[in-house]
Amino acid sequence: MEKLGKDKFYLIETFGCQMNIHDSEKIAGMLRDLGYKSTEKKELADIIIFNTCCIRETAELKIMAKIGETKALKKANNDLLIVVCGCMTQQKGMSELLKKRFPFINLVIGTHNLEELENYIKEYNKKLKFKSIIWEQEGKVVEFDKVYRTSGNNAWVNIMYGCNNFCTYCIVPYVRGRERSRKVIDIVNEVKNLAKNKEYKTITLLGQNVNSYGLDFKDGKTNFVYLLNELCKIEGDFKIKFMTSHPKDFSSKLIRFIATHDKMSKALHLPVQSGSSRILKAMNRHYDIEHYKNLVSEIYRTIPSATLTTDIIVGFPGETDEDFEETCKLLEFVKYSSIFGFVYSKREGTPASKFENQISAKVKQKRITKLFEIQHKISKEQLLNMVGKVFDALLEEDENHKIIARTDSGKTLCPVNLKDVKPNTFCKVKVLEINGNELTCEII
Ligand code: SAH
Ligand code: SF4
Ligand code: F3S
Repeated sequence: MEKLGKDKFYLIETFGCQMNIHDSEKIAGMLRDLGYKSTEKKELADIIIFNTCCIRETAELKIMAKIGETKALKKANNDLLIVVCGCMTQQKGMSELLKKRFPFINLVIGTHNLEELENYIKEYNKKLKFKSIIWEQEGKVVEFDKVYRTSGNNAWVNIMYGCNNFCTYCIVPYVRGRERSRKVIDIVNEVKNLAKNKEYKTITLLGQNVNSYGLDFKDGKTNFVYLLNELCKIEGDFKIKFMTSHPKDFSSKLIRFIATHDKMSKALHLPVQSGSSRILKAMNRHYDIEHYKNLVSEIYRTIPSATLTTDIIVGFPGETDEDFEETCKLLEFVKYSSIFGFVYSKREGTPASKFENQISAKVKQKRITKLFEIQHKISKEQLLNMVGKVFDALLEEDENHKIIARTDSGKTLCPVNLKDVKPNTFCKVKVLEINGNELTCEII
């Protein structure tokens, strides 16, 4: 693609979780408002933004390498604006480190200051060298009204920011600040607008621990179930998902609410992190494995169509073969539809980074391989179990314009009867058969 006349282009490289994906949509909204268009080609870009993540060392190393690659581009085009934002920038000493390693960066901007990006770009002065805008404050709630959504028929909606939990392995509370909730009215208005646009079929509520939504208002009324109830009253053909919820405060009231409201998705993400109570204690998770298993049983009992996914860390300091075996047994107990498994990564500034008995890379690798092997088998069983059963699904057009049916839990099925079907509508499907990993279904 040739660059035309005065066109200005942006390229955003996003790393990390849904929170960051959605922040990038806010940044894209600001840039579009300023007249920029999106490009995938670095050579065409007038502004390159790295929206960073520091949850694991591997993420950080990858990002550092990517930033390094832009040195040559900056040399060829001194007007190119390079911005680094997101969680990585909030770490102690990071701004100084970035300045030393990559002096060609124009701006390092923290997670609490994202809204200031717009003014910076408007007032950008070529003579300005490296600038850093990072507040060490706890963070605030800022409303963004120019979001440019890029996640198809799913719309992300922040309901709260930050985290108060301080799991001993995790960097998030240090880089995203304390928990703070958006007002119910602001969330309701955003969802109402999304529901009017019939394109959005899933609204995914975002927060590090959505179960503590609204508790910071201390008004005795606002909490997560209260918010969900307000959102379920909104007219429209859409499902509500949320992530992430913490098992320590996933209440029976919430389970009953999900069971009894059609708008609530029954695909639940319930991060366990480890199957060993001893390790959960060292992780500061505030629940033991009995509590978690009881919760899972209650969910399956109350919501028969529930499917569960989880996050697991292997190789946490002090994790013995027995502890790891407990995690493997938990997979067999819960029968997750899929898992997100991670090798423990030491994060500077977190308590666990100073724990004794750090586990060797070799052992961690062995454990994660075994974990995925077990889950692979379970996922296969789960697929086989679907044959002959009826599921709620959303009809979608894939990248080859073929119609597929996506179940609540994200499994894609190939419908065999396609007469008069419209993409982006909900339907019921009966699973017919499985060929390898492909499932066929009948729209009923
Ligand atoms: N707030 C969410 C998760 C945020 S981070 C929750 O509490 O579940 C996403 C996942 O990254 C975590 O669930 C955890 O499994 C993983 N993770 C966090 N810190 C990690 C670390 N230091 N090493 C490896 N994995 C980590
Ligand atoms: Fe990290 Fe724990 Fe907070 Fe999740 S709940 S973001 S794992 S500290
Ligand atoms: Fe997400 Fe990574 Fe930050 S997982 S909250 S982008 S550290």
